[in-house]
Order: sequence, then C-alpha cells, then structure tokens
Amino acid sequence: MAEKFYITTPIYYVNDVPHIGHAYTTIAADILARYNRLKGKKVFFLTGTDEHGQKVEKAAKDKGRTPKEHADIMVENFKSLWSRLNISNDAFIRTTDPEHIKTVQGLIQLLWDNGEIEKRQYSGWYCTPDERFWTEKDLVEGKCPDCGRPVEQIQEENYFFLMSKYQPRLIDYIEANKSYILPDTRRNEVLGFLRNNALGDLCISRPKSRLSWGIPFSFDENFVTYVWFDALVNYFSATKYLAPLKAVSGQRSAVSGKKETLNSELLTLNSNDWWPADHHLVGKDILTTHAVYWSTMLMALRFHLPKNIFAHGWWTVDGKKMSKSFGNMIDPNIMVEKYGVDAFRYFLFREVPFGLDGNFSEDALATRINTDLANDLGNLLSRFLTMAEKYFGGVIEGTEGDIVDAFFASECIKTLYPARDDANWSNIRFNIILDSIWNVVRMANNYIAQTEPWKLAKDNKANLKQIMVNIWNALRLTAISLYPFMPDTSEKMWKQLGMLKTITEEASKEEVFNWQYGGIKVQKGEQLFPRIDMKKEDAGARGPVPSKADEQPDTANLISIEDFAKVQLKIGKVLQAERVPKSNKLIKLQVDTGEQRQIVAGIGHAYAPEDLAGKRVAVVTNLKPAKLMGVESQGMLLAATDSDGVLSILIPEKDVKEGAKIK
Ligand code: MSP
Repeated sequence: MAEKFYITTPIYYVNDVPHIGHAYTTIAADILARYNRLKGKKVFFLTGTDEHGQKVEKAAKDKGRTPKEHADIMVENFKSLWSRLNISNDAFIRTTDPEHIKTVQGLIQLLWDNGEIEKRQYSGWYCTPDERFWTEKDLVEGKCPDCGRPVEQIQEENYFFLMSKYQPRLIDYIEANKSYILPDTRRNEVLGFLRNNALGDLCISRPKSRLSWGIPFSFDENFVTYVWFDALVNYFSATKYLAPLKAVSGQRSAVSGKKETLNSELLTLNSNDWWPADHHLVGKDILTTHAVYWSTMLMALRFHLPKNIFAHGWWTVDGKKMSKSFGNMIDPNIMVEKYGVDAFRYFLFREVPFGLDGNFSEDALATRINTDLANDLGNLLSRFLTMAEKYFGGVIEGTEGDIVDAFFASECIKTLYPARDDANWSNIRFNIILDSIWNVVRMANNYIAQTEPWKLAKDNKANLKQIMVNIWNALRLTAISLYPFMPDTSEKMWKQLGMLKTITEEASKEEVFNWQYGGIKVQKGEQLFPRIDMKKEDAGARGPVPSKADEQPDTANLISIEDFAKVQLKIGKVLQAERVPKSNKLIKLQVDTGEQRQIVAGIGHAYAPEDLAGKRVAVVTNLKPAKLMGVESQGMLLAATDSDGVLSILIPEKDVKEGAKIK
C-alpha cells in the first residue's frame, strides 16, 4: 500500500485578512505536498481557519453580525487566496465544523475521565486581546509580555490540563528525537526553555459568562474551551472526517497498550490511520503552543506525537515588522496580480532559507524575476527551443552510443542530486534544493556558451544533435524538479519540451530521471517570464542607470594610462558573505585578494550571500576605506548594470589565483 504523508499548516484566525506570512506557510506546505504526491505517496494536506475566541466575537459584534456569520464571510478571503496561489490542499477545516466540535468535546471528556484535567480556583493576570493568562513574573513592566498591552487581574474557577507532569517526558522525547523540532536552533530554544523553567498546568477553559463564542464543555455547560485547545485538536479531528481515505497502511496509531482502560470513543479515535502528521508547519511565534501544549496533550491522550514540527522565520517588510499600524502589510493577492503566482512562490523560498527571518521587498522580488527566472531559466528554454526549430525542425533525437558529452550528463545528474535527496526534503531545506536546480540551469547556459551550437550548425550537425539532446535533458530535469515550487511554469516547460503527458502523470516513474535520447518534437510556446521593467518599478534603489550622457563618446572624460595605473585591480576570492542587517542592497563580503579584506557591495538585489561564497571576483584594492550603513568597506567589487537593471559581478573566465593583478 502507498506510503502516507500528512502535512498541516496552522489554522489562521479568521479575523485577519491574509498576508504574506499566511501565504508563506501555506505555500511551503503545498510544495511538500506536491513533492510527496510526485513520489507516489498518498497525501493529506490540511489547512483551515481558527474561528472561536474573543477577537472574533468582538469583531462580529462591531459589525452587527453573529460570530458565525462573521466567520463565514472572512473565511472566503483565505479560500480565494489559496486557489489563487495554486494551493493543492485536500481539505479545509473550520473550527466551527460540527464534527470538529464533537471531537474537541470528546477529547476533553476523555482527559477528564482519565484524571488529566482538574477544576481549580485560579487567579492570574489576563490579557484580553491575546486571550491568555500570565503569572506575575511573566509580566514586563506590569504589561502583557507578548503584546505589551495592559492586563487585568482575574479570579475565577477554571479547568486545568495537568501539563506540568509531562515535562520530564517531553524533554526526553525531544532529546531522543532529533528531528521532532526543526530547525535545530528552534529545537535548542525549546529544550533550553524546558530545562530551565518549571512548566505549569494549562488553563483550558473560559467561563461562559466572560466568553460565549467557544466550544462548550460537555460535562459543564458553564465553560467553553480555551481557543488553543480547540485549535490544536484540528490536526487530529480533520483526520476523522475530512481525510480523503481512511485506512492507509493498516498501522495503528495508539501508542500504549492501555487501550482497554479507555472508553469506546477513544478506541474509535485511535484506529484512525492518518494520524500522526508528518509535518506541522508553523511560524516561530507559535512554536511553544505546538511543541509544548500540543505534545503534552497528545501524551495525555496516549496518541502518537507528530513526526516533526517545523518553525519557520518571519518576514519583515523594508526592515520593519509587518503590521496594520505601520501600514506595511503585503497582500499576496496584489503580488500575484503584479508578478504572477509562480514568481511569487519561487521568490519566497529562494530569497531566504526556510527557518530564518527575511526581509520582503518588491525590489528584491523583481530582481529575482529578471535574473533567475527571465535571464537564467526563461532564456535557456527559449534559446533551446529556437535552436531546435531552426536547426532540426523541432525534432530532438540522439542515441546513447555516440553521446558527445557524457561528462555533461553525469555532472548534471550529480548537480541535481540534492533536489532529489529525501533528507533535504524531510528536513525542509528548500534553499539547498533550489540552489541545486539553479546550478543545473547555469550549467546548461554555460554549456551553450562553450559549445557554440550556431557554429556547429554549419559544419557538425551530428555533434549538435547530441548537444541539443543534452540541453533538452537538463531542461526536462529542471522542469520536473521545479514542479513543487512552480507547478504551472513546470508544466508549461514540460509541454514545450514536447512531452505528451503531464509532469504529475509521469513523475513517479523512476525512468523519468534517467538521461533520455529524445525522439520527440518540441513546441515553442509563450515566454515563461517577461522581464519586469525595473526603472518603472524603482530605479533609484538599484544604482545608476546609464544616462544618455554615459552613452556618448566624450573626449573630455578620457584618462591617460598613468591615470588608469593609479587604480589597483586584483582578483579576490570570496571567503564569506552575509547581508548587512536592515539593508536590501548591501552585502558584506570577506575577500582574499592576497590579504583578507572586508568589502561592502550594493549587490544584494541581484545575489544571495550563499551564491557568492567561493566565487572569484574583480576588486579595486586601493580605494580609501569608507563606511556603508556603519560597516567598513576596504575596496570595491566590480559589477556591471545594464539598462534593464540586470546586475552582474565580474568573474574571471579562468581560475586565476587570488591576488592576481588585473591589468
Ligand atoms: N490561529 C493560530 C494558529 C493555530 S494553529 C493550531 C494563529 N493564527 S494566525 O493567523 O495569527 O497566524 C498564523 C501563522 O502566520 C503563524 O504561523 C504565524 O507565524 C504566521 N505569520 C504571521 N505573521 C508572519 C510574518 N510576518 N512572517 C511569517 N509568518 C508570519 O496563530
């Protein structure tokens, strides 16, 4: 039976309109779902909305609606965005679904019956907007440590989930399961927190008198469920009533042999085969609720824990936290309209390693489109198709025996290996995967430059035929590897490369990844990525665009050879590169030019730091040191910018040693 793969996103508060933060997690889940479907797995990809709680109740009241009416309207913002972003979720859960409500009630009853919940008199500091209690020592200057707003002292009876007793077991579990929480930095944070702080018990109820918009306790109608208890259960309840098929592999989900002590409802819940999830994708801000609350709830229920909780970083916009009050919320709908869905999807995962924080700017997005998508990928495809039509009437055909450049084939497969390595997928290293795909694209572009097909077309068509087969293979493997990230673009490429079936129909066959010898007719179609006019978008931020005056020969500007000799130019090797904090444009490089020096270069729109390490570059070494955004630069990197705003650093054609003089 096919292996199963179950992936979730957080369920989003219906109160907010979706922004790039929501889009980010959901696209990440979509990428993983699509990849695993290509691998032939049975996938259950779940997303949805979190609809109970005080904020929804209040917003609905302000609008003169019932909370459910309000949620029914707001949920459409998410559903329509997901369809626009080409999200392939199998189900959409709403916490107001009657089946979800029943499951939450059933699980609370079960915990109550098993002595995992206690009713206690409680007094604490309550933050109404965050719907959260804090202890005295949590407060920061007497205010909510999370949002900084005033808190009020509340005394009331409530139900508590006895979470504290699971602390040692949770620590052991996280220590023993290295990939339970990823990335490692987040895992260490959670472990550090658990080792150094005593875990309290968790208040999981709210008196109905204070909050009526919640799931009522089945055994005490004066209380409703704390919104996080209700929300976290969605990951489980959806498997009960929304999953596409029930039994997947025949494995049982209950952890212990204590099933006989539990009631019949739990037995039913236990026999569901979709649980546990392979990944819960969450933002770093909600890691504790997942890693601590959800994990201990599952322990108390004696259910399996999910295989992985992955906490990604946050996007800032122009260096600032995204918030309504700053007016810098980015609407993904607008980004898709302006730049296209696949370019937006690609950018989010190419620009910043998944797990780290990143800064969003349209400038950086447009640069990525022009450089990676239009220049590298789009040009490669269109040059190939033009040559195929011109030289061979579109027919691509070769034979295994007389392959001209077997080296290219083996290098290509080797270079692409990280994109097919399951460890990179299960650890969600999107940046490594995309890097390897782009290395193949660059290899293929260099291959065209080196083999010069237009010359071979005159006198060596047999050789050219094989070269075209090689490029066709590189493009075919690129299309299939890119599919999870850019499904539409990949299918378009696939079709233009002459394939009769779609990627989704073909990809689970292992032979698709073998080097093939064509026998097909390509069909040139529409251009993949039209260039973005950077001047129109924002020219200033990208450095000088040549003016008319720059293009005119101007003898007054001529310099003598002596003047030129004053400039010392050397080859340097980039040892390290990182972004200058809060700058989209500046990258700080450690460069070996015979001696190590630090250079700050305005190339951050065109290059990611990880693309630069190891590269040989041209450097002006006798410039007076200057400070850029407070960071010292001892020299200048040579780069060229064309009238379209495409920026390229200058790289020597051969591997000359660092320190070599440029004359
Ligand atoms: N309803 C809860 C989740 C319950 S899951 C059982 C919730 N909802 S939310 O709508 O506020 O946030 C959902 C997700 O959006 C979180 O994972 C959060 O990290 C993410 N983001 C919110 N702002 C973000 C950025 N600026 N950047 C990246 N992700 C961000 O929390």
